[in-house]
Amino acid sequence: MDWEQWQHSWDRQQEWYMPDREERIRVMLDLVEAAAGPSPRVLDLACGPATISRRLFARLPAATSVGIDRDPALLRIAERSFDGDVRITFATADLNTADWSAIFADEPFDAILTATATHWMTATALARLYRDLVKLLRPGGIFLNADHMPDPANPLLNALDDKVQQAHRKLASENGALDWDHWWTTAAADPQLAEDVAASREILREHTTGQEHPADWHLTRLREAGFLEAGVVWRSVTDAVVAAIR
Ligand SMILES: C[S@@+](CC[C@H](N)C(=O)[O-])C[C@H]1O[C@@H](n2cnc3c(N)ncnc32)[C@H](O)[C@@H]1O
Repeated sequence: MDWEQWQHSWDRQQEWYMPDREERIRVMLDLVEAAAGPSPRVLDLACGPATISRRLFARLPAATSVGIDRDPALLRIAERSFDGDVRITFATADLNTADWSAIFADEPFDAILTATATHWMTATALARLYRDLVKLLRPGGIFLNADHMPDPANPLLNALDDKVQQAHRKLASENGALDWDHWWTTAAADPQLAEDVAASREILREHTTGQEHPADWHLTRLREAGFLEAGVVWRSVTDAVVAAIR
């Protein structure tokens, strides 16, 4: 597969889990444009193959972006598919380390965006990450996090949502979409990705601790971290986008 096909295949795999993925990215970019205008400097946090940056450039061609992630295979797809695009740079960083943001110089970001990543972190590491993000944003800058944020107070609603999602996934599989495990098996079989996938699997084996939190948990931690405001700007039954203003 070429790099564009890998992007497409990643999107289909993510949509297998989140049929409304594009809608949440659109809501995030609406707010970035409102907060920072047509040429924001964005941090694409835990970027994977940099889906958010791709949507950002499609909408705001004068934007610039820095993509960071710890996964070598996803970063490879990102770097190769953006080859020659001077608007974006990539760096390897593990958000669980205390000094992950040391790689950034003094220039603050207008917006920091992340999707489907923070539930991979422990509560302690994520609270620390939120404090780091305040320091990386300019005053008035915006942070947006789209992730699984189920509310344990609603087990019946969550179970109904699970039924809806299972039906969607069955249909998507019948139409050829791959789930997470099958996607990685396919990536491992591509000679141009095989070595990176082996390294990715090693990283995933070592870091399996993560926690999901309800949206209110995120809002409280964001305010405690020093953001001026924090609110829910989109939600489904079990997922949400939270936003915070520096
Ligand atoms: C499900 S993917 C989402 C990627 C992208 N944001 C998207 O929406 O397509 C989750 C990403 O978070 C990254 N990630 C998870 N924990 C991380 C950490 N501690 N440091 C850096 N990246 C991390 C993974 O490597 C992966 O690329």
